[in-house]
Amino acid sequence: MPKINLLTDPMIIHGGENVYSPSDDSFLLIDYFKKIITENHFDGIDIRKIKNILDLGTGTGIIALLFQMVKLKNPKFNPKIYASDILEEALRCARLNEKANKFENKIKFVRSDLFKSFPDNLKHVFDVIVFNPPYLPSFQSVKEKNNTTKIDYSWDGGEHGNDVIIKFLDEVKNFLNMKNGCHVYFISSDRTDLRELNEKIENKGFKNNIVGKKHVFFEDIILNRLNLRES
Ligand SMILES: C[S@@+](CC[C@H](N)C(=O)[O-])C[C@H]1O[C@@H](n2cnc3c(N)ncnc32)[C@H](O)[C@@H]1O
Repeated sequence: MPKINLLTDPMIIHGGENVYSPSDDSFLLIDYFKKIITENHFDGIDIRKIKNILDLGTGTGIIALLFQMVKLKNPKFNPKIYASDILEEALRCARLNEKANKFENKIKFVRSDLFKSFPDNLKHVFDVIVFNPPYLPSFQSVKEKNNTTKIDYSWDGGEHGNDVIIKFLDEVKNFLNMKNGCHVYFISSDRTDLRELNEKIENKGFKNNIVGKKHVFFEDIILNRLNLRES
């Protein structure tokens, strides 16, 4: 199967004190997408059927920018790319990186806490949704002092590390285009409470496939791909 020859990663020039700098989790996703997007398929889905992709929690915009780069390389891959974040500062920074990569005004940006501010016309349109969420349990000291900062949005997943992912799972189906087959990718860690998370995945009618893993310092970072369970 012909591969898309993507040697370079998006150029991330702009950051900010509250914006997550791409790290091992970001590159677990990037490397996976470089491997599974071929001339005719996106992880098993006919590439021409992928019309809309969402990079949720975009940070510097790195994942959305990767998809824009693939579009340049493969004319059969022509989805609209959306990128959202809860932080205005992240979106500002992602727009600057979009410009630095010469894709000015190509990505559609939405500021939103998960899907709360998404307009109705984005319901049931996404063939692929990617979320590298905050997935680590809160530090007790930060919680006790009640001194969370905006950068905590990048890693703080609440008491068991899965608060944001669980809220995401509650809503994600409303935004998926379930007609042609669709993929939801998200990152978790062996520090995240996976028992509770797996229950939620089951209850929401998804099957989880672990498609990547990387050991970094104190944790295993896990790349999950959700697909709709056939009923
Ligand atoms: C781990 S960073 C990932 C950034 C980027 N996608 C990457 O892979 O480098 C998590 C991102 O999710 C955003 N985020 C956290 N909670 C969110 C929420 N409820 N809704 C939308 N974005 C959120 C953070 O602001 C941050 O940019």
